[in-house]
Amino acid sequence: MADHTATGFRGVFVTGTDTGVGKTVVAGALARLWAAAGLSTGVMKPIATGGVKAPRGYVSLDARFLVAVSGSHDPPELANPICLEAPVAPTAAARAAAVALDLGRVAEAFEVLRRRHQVMVVEGIGGLLVPIGGGFFVADLAARMALPLIVVARPGLGTINHTLLTLDVARRRGLAVAAVVINGYRADEAGLAERTNPEEIERAGGVPVGAVAPWDERTGVEAGRLGDLVIAALAPLAQALAAGRPVRPWTGRT
Ligand SMILES: Nc1ncnc2c1ncn2[C@@H]1O[C@H](COP(=O)(O)OP(=O)(O)OP(=O)(O)O)[C@@H](O)[C@H]1O
Ligand SMILES: [Mg+2]
Repeated sequence: MADHTATGFRGVFVTGTDTGVGKTVVAGALARLWAAAGLSTGVMKPIATGGVKAPRGYVSLDARFLVAVSGSHDPPELANPICLEAPVAPTAAARAAAVALDLGRVAEAFEVLRRRHQVMVVEGIGGLLVPIGGGFFVADLAARMALPLIVVARPGLGTINHTLLTLDVARRRGLAVAAVVINGYRADEAGLAERTNPEEIERAGGVPVGAVAPWDERTGVEAGRLGDLVIAALAPLAQALAAGRPVRPWTGRT
Protein backbone atom coordinates (compact mmCIF):
# COMPACT_ATOMS: atom_id res chain seq x y z
CA MET A 1 0.00 0.00 0.00
CA ALA A 2 1.18 3.51 -0.80
CA ASP A 3 2.55 5.18 2.26
CA HIS A 4 1.42 8.69 1.44
CA THR A 5 -1.47 10.44 -0.22
CA ALA A 6 -1.26 12.04 -3.64
CA THR A 7 -0.62 15.38 -1.93
CA GLY A 8 2.19 14.06 0.24
CA PHE A 9 0.03 14.47 3.33
CA ARG A 10 1.09 11.95 5.97
CA GLY A 11 -1.03 12.84 8.98
CA VAL A 12 -0.78 14.90 12.16
CA PHE A 13 0.56 14.84 15.69
CA VAL A 14 -2.17 16.18 17.96
CA THR A 15 -0.84 18.05 20.95
CA GLY A 16 -2.49 20.54 23.24
CA THR A 17 -1.93 23.44 25.57
CA ASP A 18 -2.66 21.17 28.54
CA THR A 19 -4.14 17.89 29.61
CA GLY A 20 -7.92 17.61 29.23
CA VAL A 21 -8.26 20.17 26.41
CA GLY A 22 -9.75 17.73 23.89
CA LYS A 23 -6.78 16.17 22.10
CA THR A 24 -8.47 12.77 21.96
CA VAL A 25 -11.74 14.20 20.68
CA VAL A 26 -10.03 16.25 17.96
CA ALA A 27 -7.67 13.41 16.99
CA GLY A 28 -10.63 11.02 16.85
CA ALA A 29 -12.68 13.35 14.67
CA LEU A 30 -9.81 13.89 12.21
CA ALA A 31 -9.14 10.14 12.03
CA ARG A 32 -12.84 9.42 11.49
CA LEU A 33 -13.05 12.01 8.70
CA TRP A 34 -9.95 10.75 6.87
CA ALA A 35 -11.03 7.14 7.20
CA ALA A 36 -14.49 8.07 5.90
CA ALA A 37 -12.83 9.86 2.95
CA GLY A 38 -11.25 6.55 1.98
CA LEU A 39 -7.75 7.12 3.33
CA SER A 40 -6.16 4.23 5.17
CA THR A 41 -5.77 5.83 8.60
CA GLY A 42 -3.66 4.62 11.50
CA VAL A 43 -4.14 5.95 15.02
CA MET A 44 -1.74 6.01 17.91
CA LYS A 45 -1.50 7.07 21.53
CA PRO A 46 2.20 6.24 21.91
CA ILE A 47 2.36 6.66 25.68
CA ALA A 48 -0.65 6.70 27.99
CA THR A 49 -0.95 7.08 31.75
CA GLY A 50 -4.02 6.66 33.92
CA GLY A 51 -4.64 3.29 32.27
CA VAL A 52 -7.63 1.14 33.22
CA LYS A 53 -6.95 -2.32 34.64
CA ALA A 54 -7.48 -5.07 32.07
CA PRO A 55 -6.92 -8.85 32.16
CA ARG A 56 -3.39 -8.25 30.83
CA GLY A 57 -1.91 -5.02 32.16
CA TYR A 58 -3.58 -1.65 31.61
CA VAL A 59 -5.48 -0.17 28.69
CA SER A 60 -5.73 3.42 27.54
CA LEU A 61 -9.24 4.79 27.08
CA ASP A 62 -7.77 7.36 24.68
CA ALA A 63 -6.30 4.63 22.49
CA ARG A 64 -9.52 2.63 22.68
CA PHE A 65 -11.51 5.70 21.57
CA LEU A 66 -9.16 6.46 18.67
CA VAL A 67 -9.26 2.87 17.46
CA ALA A 68 -13.06 2.68 17.77
CA VAL A 69 -13.97 5.95 16.05
CA SER A 70 -11.48 5.46 13.20
CA GLY A 71 -12.52 1.86 12.59
CA SER A 72 -8.87 0.75 12.92
CA HIS A 73 -8.09 -2.97 12.85
CA ASP A 74 -4.57 -2.61 14.20
CA PRO A 75 -3.69 -4.50 17.36
CA PRO A 76 -3.86 -2.50 20.60
CA GLU A 77 -0.13 -2.91 21.29
CA LEU A 78 0.63 -0.96 18.11
CA ALA A 79 -1.96 1.75 18.75
CA ASN A 80 -0.72 2.09 22.34
CA PRO A 81 2.69 0.53 23.03
CA ILE A 82 3.06 1.97 26.53
CA CYS A 83 0.27 2.25 29.11
CA LEU A 84 0.90 2.93 32.79
CA GLU A 85 -1.48 2.97 35.74
CA ALA A 86 -0.80 6.21 37.60
CA PRO A 87 -2.58 9.25 36.11
CA VAL A 88 0.56 11.42 36.10
CA ALA A 89 3.41 12.31 33.74
CA PRO A 90 4.99 9.26 32.04
CA THR A 91 8.29 9.58 33.90
CA ALA A 92 6.51 9.71 37.28
CA ALA A 93 4.12 6.88 36.35
CA ALA A 94 7.04 4.71 35.22
CA ARG A 95 8.90 5.34 38.48
CA ALA A 96 5.75 4.51 40.48
CA ALA A 97 5.45 1.21 38.58
CA ALA A 98 9.20 0.56 38.78
CA VAL A 99 9.45 0.10 34.99
CA ALA A 100 11.51 1.78 32.28
CA LEU A 101 9.91 3.81 29.48
CA ASP A 102 10.94 1.91 26.37
CA LEU A 103 10.86 4.58 23.66
CA GLY A 104 12.27 2.05 21.19
CA ARG A 105 8.95 0.22 21.37
CA VAL A 106 7.13 3.42 20.48
CA ALA A 107 9.41 4.05 17.49
CA GLU A 108 8.96 0.48 16.22
CA ALA A 109 5.16 0.55 16.55
CA PHE A 110 5.01 3.90 14.77
CA GLU A 111 7.13 2.58 11.89
CA VAL A 112 4.86 -0.43 11.45
CA LEU A 113 1.71 1.72 11.43
CA ARG A 114 3.22 4.38 9.19
CA ARG A 115 4.13 1.78 6.59
CA ARG A 116 0.71 0.21 6.82
CA HIS A 117 -1.34 3.40 6.43
CA GLN A 118 -1.56 6.45 4.20
CA VAL A 119 -2.28 8.77 7.08
CA MET A 120 -1.33 8.69 10.78
CA VAL A 121 -3.12 10.46 13.62
CA VAL A 122 -0.96 10.45 16.73
CA GLU A 123 -2.13 11.86 20.07
CA GLY A 124 0.59 13.20 22.36
CA ILE A 125 0.40 13.15 26.11
CA GLY A 126 -0.34 16.36 28.01
CA GLY A 127 1.55 19.13 26.20
CA LEU A 128 4.86 19.50 24.33
CA LEU A 129 7.08 19.74 27.40
CA VAL A 130 5.86 16.65 29.21
CA PRO A 131 8.93 14.50 29.98
CA ILE A 132 8.93 11.00 28.50
CA GLY A 133 12.21 9.69 29.88
CA GLY A 134 15.85 9.68 28.83
CA GLY A 135 15.86 13.48 28.83
CA PHE A 136 13.27 13.50 26.05
CA PHE A 137 9.98 15.38 25.88
CA VAL A 138 6.75 14.95 23.90
CA ALA A 139 8.15 17.58 21.50
CA ASP A 140 11.02 15.19 20.69
CA LEU A 141 8.53 12.43 19.95
CA ALA A 142 6.68 14.74 17.54
CA ALA A 143 9.98 15.69 15.88
CA ARG A 144 10.95 12.06 15.48
CA MET A 145 7.61 11.23 13.87
CA ALA A 146 7.99 14.22 11.54
CA LEU A 147 4.26 14.96 11.49
CA PRO A 148 2.90 18.53 11.56
CA LEU A 149 1.24 19.54 14.81
CA ILE A 150 -2.36 20.28 15.57
CA VAL A 151 -2.42 22.33 18.78
CA VAL A 152 -5.69 21.89 20.66
CA ALA A 153 -6.56 24.79 22.95
CA ARG A 154 -9.33 25.82 25.33
CA PRO A 155 -11.75 28.55 24.25
CA GLY A 156 -11.60 30.83 27.29
CA LEU A 157 -9.50 33.37 29.13
CA GLY A 158 -5.84 32.29 29.45
CA THR A 159 -5.74 30.33 26.25
CA ILE A 160 -3.79 32.97 24.29
CA ASN A 161 -0.84 32.64 26.65
CA HIS A 162 -0.96 28.84 26.76
CA THR A 163 -1.28 28.59 22.99
CA LEU A 164 1.54 31.04 22.27
CA LEU A 165 3.80 29.22 24.76
CA THR A 166 3.12 25.99 22.90
CA LEU A 167 3.71 27.59 19.48
CA ASP A 168 6.96 29.10 20.76
CA VAL A 169 8.26 25.72 21.90
CA ALA A 170 7.21 24.18 18.58
CA ARG A 171 9.04 26.86 16.64
CA ARG A 172 12.22 26.64 18.71
CA ARG A 173 12.35 22.92 18.01
CA GLY A 174 11.62 23.25 14.32
CA LEU A 175 8.21 21.57 14.53
CA ALA A 176 5.73 22.53 11.83
CA VAL A 177 2.31 23.58 13.11
CA ALA A 178 -0.57 22.87 10.72
CA ALA A 179 -3.23 24.61 12.78
CA VAL A 180 -4.57 25.49 16.19
CA VAL A 181 -7.96 23.97 17.03
CA ILE A 182 -10.09 25.56 19.72
CA ASN A 183 -12.22 22.89 21.33
CA GLY A 184 -15.25 22.97 23.62
CA TYR A 185 -16.68 26.32 22.49
CA ARG A 186 -20.06 27.10 24.06
CA ALA A 187 -21.78 29.79 22.01
CA ASP A 188 -24.40 30.40 24.71
CA GLU A 189 -21.75 31.13 27.35
CA ALA A 190 -19.15 32.82 25.15
CA GLY A 191 -17.93 36.21 26.38
CA LEU A 192 -15.55 38.66 24.79
CA ALA A 193 -12.50 36.45 25.45
CA GLU A 194 -14.03 33.40 23.73
CA ARG A 195 -15.22 35.47 20.78
CA THR A 196 -11.91 37.26 20.20
CA ASN A 197 -9.40 34.50 21.06
CA PRO A 198 -9.24 32.89 17.58
CA GLU A 199 -8.34 36.20 15.97
CA GLU A 200 -5.87 37.12 18.72
CA ILE A 201 -4.14 33.75 18.45
CA GLU A 202 -3.87 34.02 14.68
CA ARG A 203 -2.51 37.54 14.83
CA ALA A 204 0.03 36.95 17.59
CA GLY A 205 0.85 33.32 16.84
CA GLY A 206 1.06 33.45 13.07
CA VAL A 207 -0.80 30.14 12.77
CA PRO A 208 -4.34 29.62 11.46
CA VAL A 209 -7.09 28.54 13.83
CA GLY A 210 -8.28 25.73 11.61
CA ALA A 211 -11.45 24.93 13.55
CA VAL A 212 -13.50 25.96 16.55
CA ALA A 213 -15.19 22.78 17.75
CA PRO A 214 -18.28 23.25 19.89
CA TRP A 215 -19.03 21.59 23.18
CA ASP A 216 -21.16 18.65 22.10
CA GLU A 217 -23.15 16.67 24.65
CA ARG A 218 -23.13 13.67 22.32
CA THR A 219 -19.33 13.49 22.50
CA GLY A 220 -17.54 11.54 25.22
CA VAL A 221 -14.16 9.81 25.17
CA GLU A 222 -15.03 7.55 28.09
CA ALA A 223 -18.35 6.53 26.46
CA GLY A 224 -16.65 6.08 23.07
CA ARG A 225 -18.94 8.62 21.41
CA LEU A 226 -18.08 11.25 18.82
CA GLY A 227 -20.90 13.70 18.14
CA ASP A 228 -21.87 15.12 14.74
CA LEU A 229 -21.24 18.72 15.82
CA VAL A 230 -17.57 18.06 16.53
CA ILE A 231 -17.13 16.10 13.31
CA ALA A 232 -18.79 18.81 11.24
CA ALA A 233 -16.64 21.51 12.84
CA LEU A 234 -13.44 19.67 11.91
CA ALA A 235 -14.46 18.61 8.40
CA PRO A 236 -13.14 21.70 6.52
CA LEU A 237 -9.78 21.42 8.28
CA ALA A 238 -9.53 17.69 7.56
CA GLN A 239 -10.35 18.29 3.88
CA ALA A 240 -7.82 21.10 3.51
CA LEU A 241 -5.01 19.09 5.14
CA ALA A 242 -5.65 15.97 3.09
CA ALA A 243 -5.83 18.00 -0.13
CA GLY A 244 -2.61 19.84 0.70
CA ARG A 245 -4.51 23.15 0.61
CA PRO A 246 -3.56 25.99 2.96
CA VAL A 247 -5.66 26.02 6.13
CA ARG A 248 -8.03 28.99 5.98
CA PRO A 249 -7.67 31.38 8.91
CA TRP A 250 -10.63 31.68 11.24
CA THR A 251 -10.59 35.46 11.15
CA GLY A 252 -13.30 36.72 8.88
CA ARG A 253 -15.38 33.56 9.12
CA THR A 254 -17.25 34.61 12.27
N1 LIG B 1 -16.15 19.22 22.17
C1 LIG B 1 -16.46 18.44 23.21
N2 LIG B 1 -17.74 18.22 23.54
C2 LIG B 1 -18.05 17.44 24.62
N3 LIG B 1 -17.14 16.84 25.41
C3 LIG B 1 -15.87 17.04 25.12
C4 LIG B 1 -15.44 17.83 24.01
N4 LIG B 1 -14.10 17.83 23.97
C5 LIG B 1 -13.69 17.11 25.01
N5 LIG B 1 -14.73 16.61 25.71
C6 LIG B 1 -14.68 15.79 26.91
O1 LIG B 1 -13.75 16.44 27.79
C7 LIG B 1 -12.88 15.48 28.37
C8 LIG B 1 -11.44 15.80 27.96
O2 LIG B 1 -11.30 15.65 26.55
P1 LIG B 1 -10.15 14.76 25.93
O3 LIG B 1 -10.09 13.45 26.63
O4 LIG B 1 -10.32 14.73 24.45
O5 LIG B 1 -8.89 15.66 26.34
P2 LIG B 1 -7.35 15.30 26.17
O6 LIG B 1 -6.65 16.59 25.87
O7 LIG B 1 -7.21 14.20 25.22
O8 LIG B 1 -6.97 14.82 27.65
P3 LIG B 1 -5.70 13.93 28.09
O9 LIG B 1 -4.60 14.92 28.34
O10 LIG B 1 -6.18 13.26 29.34
O11 LIG B 1 -5.37 12.96 26.99
C9 LIG B 1 -13.35 14.12 27.90
O12 LIG B 1 -14.24 13.61 28.88
C10 LIG B 1 -14.11 14.41 26.62
O13 LIG B 1 -15.13 13.48 26.36
MG1 LIG C 1 -6.44 12.31 25.52
